[in-house]
Amino acid sequence: MWWILKGHLEAKGNQLYIGGFSAAALAKQYGTPLFVYNGNRILDNFNRIKDAFAAAGAAPRIHFAMKACPHLEVLRLLQREGALIDAVSPNEVRIALRAGFSKEKILFTGTSISSSELSEIAEPGVAINIDSFSQMRRLHALGFRGKCSIRWNPGMGAGGHSHTITAGKFIKFGVPEQKVEQAFEEAKNLGLNVVGLHQHIGSGWTGKDVDVFLETVGKTIAVAKKAEEILGGKLQFVDFGGGPGIRYRKDQAEFPLQRYAKGIVEKMRASGLKAEIAIEPGRYIVGDSAMLLCEINTVEEKNIPIIGVNAGFNDLIRPAFYGSYHEMVVCENVNGLRTGDFMVAGDLCESGDVLNENRETLRELPVPEEGNTLAILNAGAYGFSMASNYNSRCLPACVMVLNGKTRLIRERQSLEDILRNEK
Ligand code: LLP
Repeated sequence: MWWILKGHLEAKGNQLYIGGFSAAALAKQYGTPLFVYNGNRILDNFNRIKDAFAAAGAAPRIHFAMKACPHLEVLRLLQREGALIDAVSPNEVRIALRAGFSKEKILFTGTSISSSELSEIAEPGVAINIDSFSQMRRLHALGFRGKCSIRWNPGMGAGGHSHTITAGKFIKFGVPEQKVEQAFEEAKNLGLNVVGLHQHIGSGWTGKDVDVFLETVGKTIAVAKKAEEILGGKLQFVDFGGGPGIRYRKDQAEFPLQRYAKGIVEKMRASGLKAEIAIEPGRYIVGDSAMLLCEINTVEEKNIPIIGVNAGFNDLIRPAFYGSYHEMVVCENVNGLRTGDFMVAGDLCESGDVLNENRETLRELPVPEEGNTLAILNAGAYGFSMASNYNSRCLPACVMVLNGKTRLIRERQSLEDILRNEK
C-alpha cells in the first residue's frame, strides 16, 4: 500500500490505523462522517519544510494558508511551532488572532475586497497584500498606515486543476506584468508603507511544474530589485506564495521539497536581495494529515456496482468539483483479496455526488460489507474548509489525534445550527 507511513497511516491485522488509533473504532466512537487529523503529521510536514530550507541555508517565513484547514486547534498547533498566517478574509484574520497569532504574524491577501472589509482588516493592523490599483487607492483613502506588499501576476501559472491556477492571462489576481512598476511608483507616491512583493502562481503543482514555479521565482526576484530601486529602499520580504502539491495517488512522486527550497534560496542569494523569503503552503502542511471516515451503507449491483456511503460533496467537494483523485480504504479490510470495481456514491441527491474522480472511472476496492467504514485519504486540505450544508446536511465532526491521544476539535453541526439564521 503506497500510502502506508509508520506512525501515521498503518495497516495492522488488516485494519486501518491513524496515529496509532483504529479508524473504524474512531468512526464508532465519534460517529460519521468524520474528519480525523493526525496532528503529529501536520507538525512533521511543517518541520520538513523548515528543514529543507535550513539545509539550503535559509529560514523562511512560513505563512500557513489557513483556507486549507482553518480549525482553531490546527492553527494553535502551527502557531506554537512558529508558523505565520496567510489569511484571505476578515474572518480568517479574526480566527487567526483568536488562535493566538499576533497581528505581525498575519499577511492578508484579498481579491475583489470591499472597502468596508478593507477597513475591518486595517483596524487590527495586519499587513495587507495589495491585489489591484483599486485596492491600493482605497487603502490610501482609508488612511491605512500599516505594512503592505504588492501581489503581481508573473504571467505564467501552474496547478492541479485549471480552477487552481492563479497566474497567467485569464486570471483575476494581482497586478499584471506590464503595470507592476507603475504599481510600486503609485504606492510610493501615495505614501504607502510597501515592504514586500508577492506572487502565488497556483495550487497543487508538483513534478515538472516545479520548474515553472522556479522560473516565476526568477521573474519575481527581478521585479523585487526594480521595486527597491523605485521605492529607494529595501524590501523586507519577497513572498513566493503557496502551491506545493502532495501525493494523491500511487503513480505520483512525492513533492521535490529539496529542489523547491534550494531553488528559491539559491536564486535569492544570487540576486543579492536581503529581503526575507516568505512562502504560503497550505496543502503541503495539512493535506495528507487527515482522512474522511464514512459508513458504507449500501453495497449493491445497480447498472454498475455501487458502494453507497453517508458522505458526499457537501463533506468533500474535491472529486466532484475538480475531478480530484482521493485514495480510499475499507478500514476493516485493508488488504482484502476479493476486490471489485465500484462507483463510490455519496448521499446527496445529485448524480455528480460521487467520490471517485469521475462517475465513469470505477474504483477497485476490497468488496466491503454494509456497515464497514470507508476512509477517504488526503482529505486534510480543502476538505472540511470547503464543506457545505447542501441537502441540509450538518457539517461533519472533526477529531485530532496527537501524541497518542484523540480529541474532538469540532462538534458535528446540529439542525439548530443550520436553522439559526432562518426567520
Ligand atoms: N497563498 C495564496 C494567495 C493562495 O490563494 C493559496 C491557495 C495558497 C497560498 C495556498 O495554496 P496551497 O499551498 O494550499 O496549494 N480548493 C483547491 C485549492 C485552492 C487554493 C486556493 N488558494 C483544491 O482543493 O485543490
